[in-house]
Amino acid sequence: MSQELPRNQIRTQPSRSGWNFRYALWGVFTLTLVSGVFLMVYYVPQFGQAFFSVRRMNEQVPFGWMLRRIHGAGGNILLILLLLYLFQVFYRGDYKAGRPAAWVSGILAFGITLWINFTGFFLPLSQASFWGTATVLSNLSAIPYCGSFFVDFIRGGKELGGTSLMRFYSMHIGFSALVALLLFRHQRRASNGKMAEENECQRFQGISIAWITAALLLAAITFVPNWFSDPLQEAANPLANPERIFLPWYFLYLEETLKFLAGAYPVLSLVAITAFAFLLFSLPYIDRNPERSILLRPLSLGLGATFLVVVLYFSFLGMANARYGERIILPARTLLNSEIRGAQVYLEKNCAYCHQIFGREGRREGPDVSVIRQRKRSPEWVQHFILNPRLYQPGTTMPRYAIPLEDLEALAAYLLSLDPQKERFKAVERRRFIDYGFYHNNVRDAD
Ligand code: HEC
Repeated sequence: MSQELPRNQIRTQPSRSGWNFRYALWGVFTLTLVSGVFLMVYYVPQFGQAFFSVRRMNEQVPFGWMLRRIHGAGGNILLILLLLYLFQVFYRGDYKAGRPAAWVSGILAFGITLWINFTGFFLPLSQASFWGTATVLSNLSAIPYCGSFFVDFIRGGKELGGTSLMRFYSMHIGFSALVALLLFRHQRRASNGKMAEENECQRFQGISIAWITAALLLAAITFVPNWFSDPLQEAANPLANPERIFLPWYFLYLEETLKFLAGAYPVLSLVAITAFAFLLFSLPYIDRNPERSILLRPLSLGLGATFLVVVLYFSFLGMANARYGERIILPARTLLNSEIRGAQVYLEKNCAYCHQIFGREGRREGPDVSVIRQRKRSPEWVQHFILNPRLYQPGTTMPRYAIPLEDLEALAAYLLSLDPQKERFKAVERRRFIDYGFYHNNVRDAD
C-alpha cells in the first residue's frame, strides 16, 4: 500500500502534456511486419542469389518496389519513434511513475530494433550494404577484449559470407518476434493501468501523431526512396571495396568513437562502456528524486545533454569521414612510370578504404602506409603480402588482391616511394589523376 501512494500522486500530477506514441508505434510496426512477410516470400537467403532476388522483387513483382520501401522506411521510422519516446520518458521523468520496468523494456525494445535494422541493412547484399556492414562490424570489433569475439560470433567466422547471411537473416526475423512480444507486453500493462485514464484529448493527440507518422512514411517512400532502402546499384563483391561507404545513420558515430578511443585507452573505454550501459538500465533505480520537471533535475539534464551532444558530434564526424580516397598523395618530384601506375592501382582498388597516407586521405582501419618504409619491407614482401595478407596476418580484415604482376610491382614501387624522410609530398585530386593520367609527369602543375 505504501508503494501505491506516490505512484498515484505522480499520476494525478497535472503535467501530462507529453506525446502519445502508442498508435503511431503500432501502425508502423504492423506495416513493417506485413510488408516483411511479403518480402520473405521472394527473398532467397543465399550469398550468390540474395541480391538478384531482391532486384527481382523490385523490378518484376507487382508493387514489390513499394513493399521494399515501406519495409525499409518503416523499420527506420520505428527506430526514430522509439528514440523520441525514450527521450520523452527521460525528459518528463516518466520512469519515476512507479513503473521502472517500462524504462528498461523501452531501452531493450530500442536496442533490439536497432539490431533488426542493422541485420536488415545487410540482407539486400548490394555492394553498399555489404561494405557498410563490414565497416560497422570492424568498428564493433574495436571494443576492447570482447569485441572481436562477438563479431566473429555473429559473422560466423572471419569472413562476411554465406554463414553470416544465414545468421543475419535469422537474427532479423527472431528479434522481430521479440520486439512484437515487448510491444504486446507494454500494451497489456498500459491498458491495465494508464489506458483507463486516457482521456479524449490524449486519444486525439495519439491519433494525430499516427497520421503525421503515416504522412512521413509516405513522403519517405515517395520522395527519398534511397534514404531508407537500398538503391541496389551493384551486387556485393567481397574482393573490391567501393569508393564510398554507406553507414546506416544509427551507427555513424561508431566510425569515430570506438576506433579512436578503444585503440588508445582499452581498459578505460571498456570500463566507460560498461558503466554507461549500467547507468542506462538502472536509471529509474538510481534516480529516486521525486522531482519530475527536467529543469529541477540538473544532474539528469547535464547527463542527457552531454550524451546528445557527444552522439551528434561523433555522428557528424563519421559522416564527414565517409569520404576517402578522393585525393592521392604523391612525391613532389618527377615520378617514375611505375610509381604513377602504382598510385593508380592504389586508387582503383580503393586501398584508402582502410589505409591512410601520413594520417590523411583515408580511414584508419589498417596501419598508415608509411609504416611499410619504417618496417623496412622489401618490394617482394609487399607484393606477396598484398596477394595474400592472411598468410602473414591470420585473421586480418585486408582482402586478397589478385593483381597482375606488372601492376603489383608498380604498387609496391609506389608504396615504397612514400618516405617522409627523403621526399616532399603533395596531394592530387583523384579525378584529375585518373582521367588525365600523369603519364606526362606534370605533377608539379597539377595542384
Ligand atoms: C578492408 C581493409 C583493408 C583494405 C581494403 C586494404 N588493407 Fe592493407 N591492411 C589492412 C590491415 C588491417 C592491415 C594490417 C595487417 C594486420 O595486422 O591485420 C594491412 C596491412 C597492409 C600492409 C602491410 C603493412 C606492413 O608493412 O606491415 C600492406 C603493404 C598493405 N596493407 C597494403 C594494402 C594495399 C596496397 C591495399 C589496396 C590494394 C590495401 N592494403 C587494402 C587492411 C586493409
